Amino acid sequence: MSEWLRVCAQSELLPGEFKVVWDRDVAIAVFNIDGELYAVEDICTHDGGELAGGEIHGFEVECPRHGARFDLRSGAAMCPPAYEPIAKFPVKVENGAIYTRDDR
Ligand code: FES
Repeated sequence: MSEWLRVCAQSELLPGEFKVVWDRDVAIAVFNIDGELYAVEDICTHDGGELAGGEIHGFEVECPRHGARFDLRSGAAMCPPAYEPIAKFPVKVENGAIYTRDDR
């Protein structure tokens, strides 16, 4: 399991925004949805598309490639063509900065 990884200052990730950081070879997308932070692996389980930058619908991110949606709270696939969940990672805020890590 890796160490916590600094994403950015809390003030640099506002509601509706996202950031991508790398934990070794794993891309982690961190989203701010109405003030709540969610971190997921930035790989669509359908065909490997990047989810960061996809349209947000409530708590769901839509894969820009073929339109699969994932619930950022659980990682669950919500509609085809993806059926497998994406990995979800912990997020914490400490001293004004956001951290995440691949905890698998
Ligand atoms: S790669 Fe994401 S829906 Fe196909």
